[in-house]
Amino acid sequence: MLPQLPDGFTALITGASGGIGSALVDALLDEPRLARLHAISRRPVVRDDERLTPHTLDLATEQGLEALGKALDGQPLHLVINAMGMLHDETDGIAPEKKLDDLDAVALGRLLHVNAVTPALLLKTLTPSLKGHHTALIGSLSARVGSIDDNRLGGWYAYRASKAAHNMLMKTASVELRRLNPNACLLCLHPGTTDTALSAPFQSRVPEGKLFTPSFVAERLLAVMSERLPSDTGEFRDWNDQPIAW
Ligand SMILES: NC(=O)c1ccc[n+]([C@@H]2O[C@H](COP(=O)([O-])OP(=O)(O)OC[C@H]3O[C@@H](n4cnc5c(N)ncnc54)[C@H](OP(=O)(O)O)[C@@H]3O)[C@@H](O)[C@H]2O)c1
Repeated sequence: MLPQLPDGFTALITGASGGIGSALVDALLDEPRLARLHAISRRPVVRDDERLTPHTLDLATEQGLEALGKALDGQPLHLVINAMGMLHDETDGIAPEKKLDDLDAVALGRLLHVNAVTPALLLKTLTPSLKGHHTALIGSLSARVGSIDDNRLGGWYAYRASKAAHNMLMKTASVELRRLNPNACLLCLHPGTTDTALSAPFQSRVPEGKLFTPSFVAERLLAVMSERLPSDTGEFRDWNDQPIAW
């Protein structure tokens, strides 16, 4: 796994309490070459492994980002996987829109903030840990429905727009990051439809055999990242290592 990373590599996962994030935490803790894993989420992440440093904070706030920046204090990171994101929130009445009449400014703003603005501000916060000459492999979870080219079905306005904005912010950051660290590689990754709380209300429409377990997806995402070189930076790929049109 991840042969391009040095022995004793350091990693950071956001959304570490989520379905895919938790599976990534478990997969990385199975890797003997891992030295330190920073797990970020609002709900606490607990594992019996002294290599794990949980940070219980909200990255969608200025205080959360500031606390993370202080805790890391510029120590180099070799692997970053952003697995936070939202599609719906029952308590706030946020659900994917079926038609223009369903659009709501607060919901649109919230998804854009969590899915696009926050991952970009995360990269800003992590820049001191990513710049230099060390291998820095970064994967930020996007979604195929964020592909403008691939949008044939319509609907899901806020989620689609937030992932498209995510992709542009990541692509732009990949250009800058190349100058800050020639050994950095920043990817947008589509995990495939995965059995988590995020997809739970929509799973009945998923074709047979197309709903993946989080552990399968974690293994696939790490396999896709294992194949990447710095020259691949800025790509948008799926769980099966296929490129996705922007
Ligand atoms: N599941 C799928 O089928 C699927 C398909 C395509 C793309 N994706 C993408 O994959 C990523 C992971 O999704 P998942 O399926 O693992 O979802 P999940 O189980 O709902 O986990 C999402 C994580 O994001 C964090 N989060 C959610 N809302 C947040 C908010 N408002 N502020 C801060 N943190 C928030 C949550 O952590 P805390 O609440 O503890 O902070 C949680 O750990 C997301 O970016 C999602 O868009 C998933």
